[in-house]
Amino acid sequence: MSQNLEEVASCSPVAEILPAVPVSEPADPGAGPFHAFPPVNPRFPYLWHGGDYNPDQWFKYPGTVDEDFRLFKEAGVNAISLGIFSWAHLEPEEGVFTFDWMDDIFDRAQKAGVAVILATPSGGKPNWLAHKYPEVRRMSRHGNWAGMPPVREEQHLRHNHCYTSPVYRQKVAEVDRRLAERYGSHPALAMWHISNEFGGECHCPLCYAAFREWLKAKYKTLDALNEAWWTGFWSHRFQSWDQITTIDTSIEGLALDWRRFCSDRTIDFCAAEAEVLRKYAPGIPVTTNMMGFYPGYDHFKMAKVLDVISWDCYPRYHDQPNTEETRVQALAHVLNRGLKDKPFILMESSPGPVNWAPVNRLLRPGQHLAKSLQAVAHGSDSVLYFQIRKGRGGSEKFHAAVIDHCGAETPKMRMFQEVQQVSKALDALKPLAGAYTPARAALVYDWESRWALELAQGPSNVGHDVGHVVRKHFDGMRRHGICVDVIPPDRDFSRYELIVLPSLYLLQDGFSDKCKAFVENGGTLVATYLTGIVNSSCLTFQHGFPGDGLRELFGVWDEEIDYLYPEERNEIIFASEESPRITGTWEVRNVCSRIHAENADVIATYGKDFYAGEPAVTCRKVGKGQAWYFAADCCDDGVAAFYAKLIDRIGIPRLVESELPTWLDVSLRVAADGKEYLFLINPTKEEAWINLGAHTWQDAFTGEPAAQSVHLGSWQTRVLVR
Ligand code: GLA
Ligand code: ZN
Repeated sequence: MSQNLEEVASCSPVAEILPAVPVSEPADPGAGPFHAFPPVNPRFPYLWHGGDYNPDQWFKYPGTVDEDFRLFKEAGVNAISLGIFSWAHLEPEEGVFTFDWMDDIFDRAQKAGVAVILATPSGGKPNWLAHKYPEVRRMSRHGNWAGMPPVREEQHLRHNHCYTSPVYRQKVAEVDRRLAERYGSHPALAMWHISNEFGGECHCPLCYAAFREWLKAKYKTLDALNEAWWTGFWSHRFQSWDQITTIDTSIEGLALDWRRFCSDRTIDFCAAEAEVLRKYAPGIPVTTNMMGFYPGYDHFKMAKVLDVISWDCYPRYHDQPNTEETRVQALAHVLNRGLKDKPFILMESSPGPVNWAPVNRLLRPGQHLAKSLQAVAHGSDSVLYFQIRKGRGGSEKFHAAVIDHCGAETPKMRMFQEVQQVSKALDALKPLAGAYTPARAALVYDWESRWALELAQGPSNVGHDVGHVVRKHFDGMRRHGICVDVIPPDRDFSRYELIVLPSLYLLQDGFSDKCKAFVENGGTLVATYLTGIVNSSCLTFQHGFPGDGLRELFGVWDEEIDYLYPEERNEIIFASEESPRITGTWEVRNVCSRIHAENADVIATYGKDFYAGEPAVTCRKVGKGQAWYFAADCCDDGVAAFYAKLIDRIGIPRLVESELPTWLDVSLRVAADGKEYLFLINPTKEEAWINLGAHTWQDAFTGEPAAQSVHLGSWQTRVLVR
């Protein structure tokens, strides 16, 4: 597509320690099946292109900002993220504020028609604050050993403040209020960017005290806590609340509650910042930049305190072999779309090599466009970068940027020209701002379930990573050219026809009733091994797995799990006459659950070992629907063959006729005017032909009719419209 593109027209102060504050959903038209959404900010109704801009590093270099704005125009930058690490320049001394430099950037942005995404500076604290108030600095445990006394960190790096510290919260609220009062009604302000990449945990006395308050609010009595934490084990029974002084990982209930607390703390910190911004600058959408499947907090809960989801995406398409990466990134984009069930913002990406990977290869020609449009394909209303201008110093001086060290000469550079291509593409795809993705299949993902399995010692300790199962089953569906969502357990199931529970180890209260209703009403539900093992307190279900009524729903008793050594293999043989008839023998690694089909049809059996001939995949017809159990870690192609039949049986329409190789990404967005945009994305060196079937498409950039069979060369992208 790169050639075609050339021809396109360019285009509260929360000072006291509180237990987990319940988060409320801000007013938001948000959720709802299959309709387009208003643009992120209707005053800037196009796809945003630009990113992190740090003019505060360049005060001593006259003319730099002039040059930047000149180059913004050439690069097609229409949005900048400002002030992310600017606290020391906004408040150089305690209580002394200097905004002149920021006023200047705002006014220039307005004149240039550039939207400003204004950050709160809480991601990096100034030295005066860290030294005068040691409590703002995080306390960490030595090498994460439970039981060792935590130590106070020195002032260094960033993102390492205490989320409980009343001083930190008060100082952040103060600078946020001043920013909101000053810029809240500036015509260039498009969105708030709260802090930067929230994460981590603090083991200081303030946090532990807050944790105990959080526990009291949750359990009310110590008896209830002891019961939930199973503290009869190793004589761990607590006789008073103040005995809870460390995070003992042998008490899994405690360790899980600590994760929940840290998550709530982080979200509450973000919510407190959002509250100040909404109070002093009403009407401006609020986001924070997240990190894909980052484990540190429950992203579905975080989504509730935000108006817009945004995330930072740094794919490793240059790694060889890289066939995993397409699905990893597709899944992460889809997750972000699912967090609020609407389009999101790609807040950071790199226009070239990062500085932090072991080997920082150049992006191949076209690869930047491919990975950028991959985000748009799955729901992003932007392509934004870290960073716009490369710094001269600091640890990120070799991280790619739109404007390189050679300054005014940057437009001669290949990387700059690839950025221009993205700008032109986004210009041509402008109607996509707010466009939706009509997914009829979904995977259920729950941070708490993932934490619980990560914290568990056993049933084995390698080979059952939740992410692995999620990616495999996501890909098994995606490769048939259907759109898939990622949803939390409490999302409405009614608009989906196919729902997958990939190793959903922990079941939230009431979840299994919801599954039952979904199947009875005609849904197809698939659960894999390691689903339904513990309740929300990390206590195992009794009376056979999967628990909490799922044994009856699937008609299966999962008796025991055989974990394979890395080099070992088994196989499953699909040989049922049942419809849909799936055939073939597929390789299995890592996990083989031994199951009994108590009240289900056997669709596949194991091929080897003492359980050869026993069931590996089953199906039970329930009401108008079906409940499938997938007991083994089958190879990619076997999982894909399984979903091929299910998708056909259910009748979910495929976007293209070809089955896709795992490294190719195909997705659809539908704009407010009803036009459908089909993205065919190849971020890799491979090549493929895609059969579009009987549909008639036009190239979104040239208007040329598309042939039925489309060739995608290495790193090539096509966008088609109808
Ligand atoms: C993160 C941060 C940025 C920058 C980039 C570098 O995403 O948010 O400030 O450090 O990484 O890739
Ligand atoms: Zn702390």
